[in-house]
Amino acid sequence: MNSATPRHTRIVGTGSCLPPRRLSNADLVVQLASRGIETSDEWIVERTGIRARHFVDDGVNASDLAARAARYALESAGCRADDIDLIIVATSTPDMVFPATASIVQNKLGVCGCPAFDVQAVCSGFVYALTVADAMIRAGSARRALVIGAEVFSRILDFNDRGTCVLFGDGAGAVVLAASDTPGILATDLHADGRHVGILCVPGTVSGGQVLGDPVLKMDGQAVFKLAVGVLESTARTVLDKAGRSAEQLDWLIPHQANIRILQATARKLKLPMEKVIVTVDQHGNTSAASIPLALDVAVRDGRIRAGDSVMLEGVGGGFTWGAVLLDF
Ligand code: UT7
Repeated sequence: MNSATPRHTRIVGTGSCLPPRRLSNADLVVQLASRGIETSDEWIVERTGIRARHFVDDGVNASDLAARAARYALESAGCRADDIDLIIVATSTPDMVFPATASIVQNKLGVCGCPAFDVQAVCSGFVYALTVADAMIRAGSARRALVIGAEVFSRILDFNDRGTCVLFGDGAGAVVLAASDTPGILATDLHADGRHVGILCVPGTVSGGQVLGDPVLKMDGQAVFKLAVGVLESTARTVLDKAGRSAEQLDWLIPHQANIRILQATARKLKLPMEKVIVTVDQHGNTSAASIPLALDVAVRDGRIRAGDSVMLEGVGGGFTWGAVLLDF
């Protein structure tokens, strides 16, 4: 690597962290029944593909999961925390109103000095954060970045709303992104449409020392589903066009893990067999900004994704936000 501004960025390490407490659908059915909420393993599996999710214990925050995932990513990249000169955390469930969870993660990693900030784009957050880190590295502002998606959605679920509380889980995934002479990230594409703020939101805030509004997740599932399927196809086609690639040249598709039916519909529209789609929603549920880097790390560690493979990452979620990153791993 020469000292000139780099032309490319590459993912050089991945890591992830799931909290140890795993709840199968059967476990959740029992817990919800004790509150008078009726659901079933059959409904959850048939409508979502989810079979289990992980929840943090009291006192564990997004920064704890993020720091653990980051350490694994650093280890797999063969570098130390003080080699990192940029930290971005994508999260909608930060430890505090401020400072950024990224600052807390930086401290937990035992380093200081490099810029650290959060990106808030809900389930598209990791794709947004990766795009920002890619641009900053190519602009010469950093050479090695930790890009992390970390969530504790169990803290913002309404366990009296069976339409949402069965869908989400906690976790974190991280990558080390480095300046490189060879690509790497080939193309990125980001969007938002604020007209749809209300279909997926946590409509609460802190004011005058009190929580105002209703700080639990609200979702119009069908509206989100319809929008998601459309934009996941369009953003995929945009990054393929930008990179001069076709869908059949893809080795792997990693869409945000919200619902197996959304993953299947996206694969169908892109004419990709499900064998090329990394699926973790069955075991993790929807972990929002963490879902893509978690799925990436699972598939790298189990040997499916290898050096040189063509990989598409796709996010979609509250905002309404969406986007994609096409890369050679
Ligand atoms: O991460 C951001 C992106 N988020 C998403 O992509 C989520 C997108 N949306 C979805 O995945 C789906 O819309 C859901 C999984 C949320 C819901 O599936 P659906 O097929 O759209 O179901 P629905 O909301 O139309 O509900 C169908 C029925 C209703 O009963 P009735 O009115 O037909 O009698 C619901 O009350 O299913 C009922 N229902 C449940 N039944 C048992 C809703 N939740 C449950 C439940 N258990 N947990």
